Amino acid sequence: MKRMDLVIAGFGTVGQGFAEVLDMRGKSIALSTGVEPRIVGAFDSKSAIYDEEGLDPNLLLYNKASGKVGNEPLVDGVAFLESIDYDLLVEVSPTNIVTGGPGLHHMRSALGSGKHLITVNKGPLALAFSELSSIARENCVEMRYEGSVGGGMPIINLCRESLSGQEISSVMGILNGTCNFILSRMDSGLPFEQALKEAQELGYAESDPSYDIDGIDTACKVVILANSVFEIDCNIHDVDVSGITAITEEAVAMAAEQNYCIRLIGEVSKERLEVSPRLVLKGHPLSVGGTLNVAQVNTDLAGPISISGRGAGRLETASAILSDLLAIIRSSVNNK
Ligand code: HSE
Repeated sequence: MKRMDLVIAGFGTVGQGFAEVLDMRGKSIALSTGVEPRIVGAFDSKSAIYDEEGLDPNLLLYNKASGKVGNEPLVDGVAFLESIDYDLLVEVSPTNIVTGGPGLHHMRSALGSGKHLITVNKGPLALAFSELSSIARENCVEMRYEGSVGGGMPIINLCRESLSGQEISSVMGILNGTCNFILSRMDSGLPFEQALKEAQELGYAESDPSYDIDGIDTACKVVILANSVFEIDCNIHDVDVSGITAITEEAVAMAAEQNYCIRLIGEVSKERLEVSPRLVLKGHPLSVGGTLNVAQVNTDLAGPISISGRGAGRLETASAILSDLLAIIRSSVNNK
């Protein structure tokens, strides 16, 4: 049977979730496609492991729970990637929205040496989307990133595949679960600071919550949608961003009196790349509560289409990586 050898860069919540999902679905993917996806390597900031014969996902999960993903100390992720054989990099290392961090180097290395890439790492995509796409094109490999926007909510595939052939005039959505949780808690009367504290305690917020509440995380997702759905060559610096830190309890209460709620909306169109808190009529598809994400895609033939789902989470985000993996396996089979 043919094989697709995978390396996972970053073995935090999402990397572990993907190992778990591959353990559950790997055999059925092999049966249905004739290609067996195998993890041959994994690394995080501290250690690495590689076995050309394949690694049991449960061994990786066990190693991680015991403190180290592998037994080799990791000095440099790029040097590790350049020293091993593989077909596809799953890049899920912690994001860095200022420089792109090690993730950007891993992605350049993988694509530049002719490996497919699946990532949910928003920083490198928001800074260097067009550069990475060009490297992928030049090397005839695929770069997919469904889980980077909306987690388990398949907004990119919806726009690029299900709605292909239509003109999409705009996508508007709630793309950050932490902000939505905070604003929903404020709808119930909680002050901003207390709602943020709850979001942190429940593990929804990024390690630096300013990424969420200042709108930066949503802006990254706007950039990814703009590049991938609208083919706008842009980066994070092109987005007009305001977050939710200035939203007061009084503003939320005044909106509620008029039957509105306040939501942080990311908007993408040829004319506008914007993240801002907006009034949304209660009952409108964009008025969802809690940590849900939602997007409304405005199309010329089918009108508005709404999609909602869990924007983060271990298995939810891993489900998006799985769908990208299947897409790459299927196209590799069709192109042979
Ligand atoms: N901090 C992000 C959120 C995680 O709250 O939506 C998913 O990108």
